[in-house]
Amino acid sequence: MFFRREKIDIFFKKIRIVSQSFLISQFYIQADKALNTPEAKTQDPKHPSAGCGCQPTEEEMLRSLDAVIDGFSKTDGALIPILQTAQNLFGYLPANVLKHISLRLKIPYSEVTGVVSFYSFFSTVPRGKHVVRVCLGTACYVRGGKEVLEAFKKNLKINVGETTADRMFSLEVGRCFGACGLAPVAMINDDVHQRVKSAKIRDLISQYQHEGEDVKEAR
Ligand code: FES
Repeated sequence: MFFRREKIDIFFKKIRIVSQSFLISQFYIQADKALNTPEAKTQDPKHPSAGCGCQPTEEEMLRSLDAVIDGFSKTDGALIPILQTAQNLFGYLPANVLKHISLRLKIPYSEVTGVVSFYSFFSTVPRGKHVVRVCLGTACYVRGGKEVLEAFKKNLKINVGETTADRMFSLEVGRCFGACGLAPVAMINDDVHQRVKSAKIRDLISQYQHEGEDVKEAR
């Protein structure tokens, strides 16, 4: 009975993810159009087409966000893709950006923060370069997920929800990544690691720590 309910939950979760992905892809198409109009290029001297690789200022990022919000002015359910874009632009979702979105969309601030806290992929604190998510869903939990999490905490010297001092890693927990048969599972960025062993966590972390070094040396 429990098994069937879990399957139904996973089924609805997949439907939710597919529909969100569709909405987000539509959103990016619109965002790309909004950010690449001739007006946007001429008004923004730091537009990529102007050949400048400078880090945009907060004001410029808010302007980019506004262009995207404008593209969604008549679309229902735009909040999630807009939050996703804001997170991509700023690296996380600071309170002033959430207030800005709330005002622009005319949605109560409490509703915006409610959505942000509901979805684990949104973060209101700056995240590290690599985001580690350890699954603590039922299958992973009974097959050692908790030990894997403890090993990450010990090696990274941080707790869940924190980021290392060098801003390289953030640690989070998840509830089922859809690979229960290969539990325990951990994700680092978009990479899914299956049958993770606590004893191998140090090696796993070091792979990401030294990522790109071979490329640099080859140059
Ligand atoms: S419980 Fe399903 S992937 Fe961990």
